Amino acid sequence: MSGEAVFHFDGKVAVVTGAARGVGRALVAAFVEAGARVVAADRDSVGLAETCASHVESVSSIVSDVSTPDGAQAIVERAVKTFGRLDICVNNAAVAPHAALLDERADVWDRVYAVNCRGTFLMTQAAARAMIAGGRGGRIINFSSGAAQRGAAGGAAYASSRAATETFSRVAAVELAPHGILVNAISPGLIDTQPKPLPPGMAERLAQRIPNLPLARPGQPEEVARVVLFLASDAASYISGAVISVDGASSAGSRFSGVVVDDDIRYDWVTGRQTKSDASARES
Ligand SMILES: NC(=O)c1ccc[n+]([C@@H]2O[C@H](COP(=O)([O-])OP(=O)(O)OC[C@H]3O[C@@H](n4cnc5c(N)ncnc54)[C@H](O)[C@@H]3O)[C@@H](O)[C@H]2O)c1
Repeated sequence: MSGEAVFHFDGKVAVVTGAARGVGRALVAAFVEAGARVVAADRDSVGLAETCASHVESVSSIVSDVSTPDGAQAIVERAVKTFGRLDICVNNAAVAPHAALLDERADVWDRVYAVNCRGTFLMTQAAARAMIAGGRGGRIINFSSGAAQRGAAGGAAYASSRAATETFSRVAAVELAPHGILVNAISPGLIDTQPKPLPPGMAERLAQRIPNLPLARPGQPEEVARVVLFLASDAASYISGAVISVDGASSAGSRFSGVVVDDDIRYDWVTGRQTKSDASARES
């Protein structure tokens, strides 16, 4: 995020998983800019080091796997041991392999669910326990995807795993509300996070898809990060159990051509009066 921070998190501590690239990297930068101290976690040590290189003062990095109980616990413990508290936990880490349903492999399916669902559960549970022990409430922000709402081919494992995190987040919001912990989910549309250059097939598919998006462009990681910061801020003190789309209207529809055609011109739809005979309507 560039320019003056919109939200301020001085004295607050945030965990960001999946911090080695993409949205996670933007989240670390945004929280640091807004005054938070951050635990940046990922399984990818090289990418994680790149993310943290320019934030050494305020970031503690940890190479850890969110899909294991020990991995999730280690991330949360790092926040409490290094910074003395945990206020915000952003469960952004995910894997997104796509395959045709008839070719889908059980081991890949299990890995997707282990990271995207079990990881979100384990991190939420560990973070909530630490927040309850801290006695100051907290914010947990999980990740879904616009793909969770569609039957997009190739997304049997990924899209259904993201739908599961939406439902999980609602349950967590209800169970953790008495502790002052608010839980929400972000549902991004197409976000420009892929390392460049893109593989040729992917570049071709995106070149076809992007002009049909309502805004005719993908979102930037910083545009997702800003909404996460809003949900983590005092401005969102009465939002919990929500799924917030950050998708430039792609869940609402596709690119508007600028022309509206009323297919049935035989009626004035306000008065109900016939405006043209069937015969003349057929001619026009
Ligand atoms: N990019 C998009 O177009 C898009 C669209 C919809 C939803 N999303 C969601 O937004 C979030 C961020 O997406 P992104 O494109 O930045 O993802 P990304 O693939 O660029 O990065 C994900 C990060 O998670 C890490 N990770 C994976 N498994 C892990 C594990 N077991 N333990 C720890 N770290 C692990 C990876 O190493 C990687 O750094 C994800 O939750 C994704 O489902 C993204």
